[in-house]
Amino acid sequence: MNSKSKVSFKKRTISLCLLASLIGFTPIKTNSIPILQHVTAVKGVQASERNISKVDYSKDVIYQIITDRFYDGDKSNNPSGNLYDANKNDWKKYWGGDWKGIADKINSGYFSKLGVTALWISQPVENIDAYIQQDGEGAPYHGYWAKDYKKTNPYFGSLSDFKNLVQAAHSHNLKIIIDFAPNHTSPARVENTGFGENGALYDNGKLLAKYNNDPDNIFHHNGSIIQDDKKNINEYKSLECCTYKNLFDLCDLNQQNKTVDKYLKDAINLWIDQGIDGIRLDAVKHMAFGWQKSFMSSINAHKPVFTFGEWSLDNGNYDAGNTNFANNSGMSLLDFRFARTVDNVFRYNSANMYDFNNMIASTAKDYEDVNSLVTFIDCHDFNRISTGSNNNRTNQALVALLTSRGIPAVYYGTEHYMTGDNDPYCRGMMSNFSTNTTAFNIISKLSALRKNNTAIGSGTTKERWINNDVYIYERQCGNNVALVAINKGNTDVNVSGLLTAMPNGNYSDVLQNIMSGNSITVRNGSVNNFTLRAGASAVWSYTTNSNSPTIGNVQQQMAKPGQEVTISGDGFGTSKGTVYFGNTAATVTSWSDDAITVKVPSISAGKVNVKVKTASGAVSNVYKNYDVISGDLVSVRFVVNNASTYYGQNVYLVGDVPELGSWNTDKAIGPFFNQIEGHYPNWYYDVAVPAGTKIEFKFIKVGTGSYGKKTIDWQSGDNRTYIVPYNTTGQVTVNW
Ligand code: NOJ
Ligand code: NOJ
Repeated sequence: MNSKSKVSFKKRTISLCLLASLIGFTPIKTNSIPILQHVTAVKGVQASERNISKVDYSKDVIYQIITDRFYDGDKSNNPSGNLYDANKNDWKKYWGGDWKGIADKINSGYFSKLGVTALWISQPVENIDAYIQQDGEGAPYHGYWAKDYKKTNPYFGSLSDFKNLVQAAHSHNLKIIIDFAPNHTSPARVENTGFGENGALYDNGKLLAKYNNDPDNIFHHNGSIIQDDKKNINEYKSLECCTYKNLFDLCDLNQQNKTVDKYLKDAINLWIDQGIDGIRLDAVKHMAFGWQKSFMSSINAHKPVFTFGEWSLDNGNYDAGNTNFANNSGMSLLDFRFARTVDNVFRYNSANMYDFNNMIASTAKDYEDVNSLVTFIDCHDFNRISTGSNNNRTNQALVALLTSRGIPAVYYGTEHYMTGDNDPYCRGMMSNFSTNTTAFNIISKLSALRKNNTAIGSGTTKERWINNDVYIYERQCGNNVALVAINKGNTDVNVSGLLTAMPNGNYSDVLQNIMSGNSITVRNGSVNNFTLRAGASAVWSYTTNSNSPTIGNVQQQMAKPGQEVTISGDGFGTSKGTVYFGNTAATVTSWSDDAITVKVPSISAGKVNVKVKTASGAVSNVYKNYDVISGDLVSVRFVVNNASTYYGQNVYLVGDVPELGSWNTDKAIGPFFNQIEGHYPNWYYDVAVPAGTKIEFKFIKVGTGSYGKKTIDWQSGDNRTYIVPYNTTGQVTVNW
């Protein structure tokens, strides 16, 4: 089928997609399943819920909605009085958008036409009922001022409205991702108990604590993170300050507290039980790494859903903590390096295509799982991509977003070139629901491409042709290829000497020339010379039944033995082969050409390499460092007192389980903290360790000796032991 598939296949894809949008079903692998089968399948499984994977997002495009600012489907649930502004003049009041409104737009077919497949909505939980006059705070229309995580925000709807939304979404093959912010409740002022609702936290209606009345230590009480440029203080650079102090004035929850730990884990399970398909976790730089890993473990034990955190990075910022979190926390991250670079390249024109390519290359090196990062070009915290820019630059940024590695998230209204400065002006009311802008078309065409060409969601990236204004890159997964060309400059560019992995043939532009693209001809790995018009973008695609198995991703990002995980990629074949974790074969629960589910075998925990062997014996690439955990994890605070150190020396923890580095000092946990919840020479750190297990451990002091060599001082005496609790947090304190 290889040689004749190219052009004729493309036609078939288009007709299938058309058919798909008419019947509300999205084809999965168009070139391997006959049309008729699709139609019968749809008839059989109306709502086709079983096709929705909660962990595999390799074919998805996310659409981010500020629930209050999308569509008012139910006027009766709008707040009254000071919280609400029917005229939409006060940007910090509720404007009426709700879950019913989103469901209405789902049912009208808006998203099916747009092609996006997952909706990320505002945090759904009950927020405070206050409009805070002071300091321009406003009302919690954004959803980030939680008061009861087990109740719905009534201005977004009731629980049955929420269920209806999930159901409407699933019946249109759309996933629902909720924002969730377990870092904090709402703003408070220690000196003014009447400010807002004093950060109050309720458990399904029962008051747990207020910030100024907190006998059980539900909250941290360490003041706010300070940034004072005049005094040269920036506590945002300290992970300890970020973790244990208040972000702005938001009351920082003490997740290590047993009540809070259980409460937050129960609360997210309640939402998972409503059928949600994913979680965007707010402010992950501001919660302890160990607790968050235990939170992921708890979610996975309940029902795994794809989870990605927000670890914000400023323009040009590189943060090793961010990389470490993405690689080791068991969840994915929003890709701020991608977003900032796209902004610089396409909107501000302060960076060129070499910078774009460098970002693609360096992130591919730094992140173990670059395909599962959630990419974006703007969001509710930045000014919108079309602000102070022209529409064609937005179009180019969209092409880059939707064809680059990572799971793309489009911010609502970008398809209508909505503008708006920083928060709150980037959160305007959805302007209109027309379906005929160029941006709308780009999103719809490239979302379809992501579905039928695994090179987009599961592939690697290769730069093929570049100058300051032009970037041509190739995505490839197995034998599937997509070639993308963007010219952001004002002049036509002659492209010669362009190489490709696509086989001989003529390829028309997947965007159908709506961005002045062209067709190309390929002969023996070379593309004919062509002119890439000023401002143009074009995408060329080749798909085939690949016989070269390629793993793009493994999700969830961590699992214990026995747990089911999904391996996405291409070329696995239709008959069952073998999946290896290290050298051990896993039990296969389902197998298709581009997705396999297996149970993680009973191997010892740690990072393992995963590979696929097809029924015909072909072996895939190695997917490196998959995180197999010992079992369910809980968060334990390890404290060591009286550990004096010399300048530059730090305290770490090492022990006999993989979660404590298996006695390998290179994998020790730390550096420990000693400023906020404990004070030098006492050190502390919250660590995720296997529940109910007897562990052995020791502390070490790590410093730098002569010639920059690492020095290690071990705590003397026998190994310390500790029995980790089941199902709750713990604390162990020893003396150095
Ligand atoms: C990051 C969110 O994206 C932002 O909108 C919010 O204000 C803070 N976290 C605090 O919740
Ligand atoms: C207002 C912002 O809109 C919101 O995102 C944030 O959570 C609060 N400020 C923090 O107080």
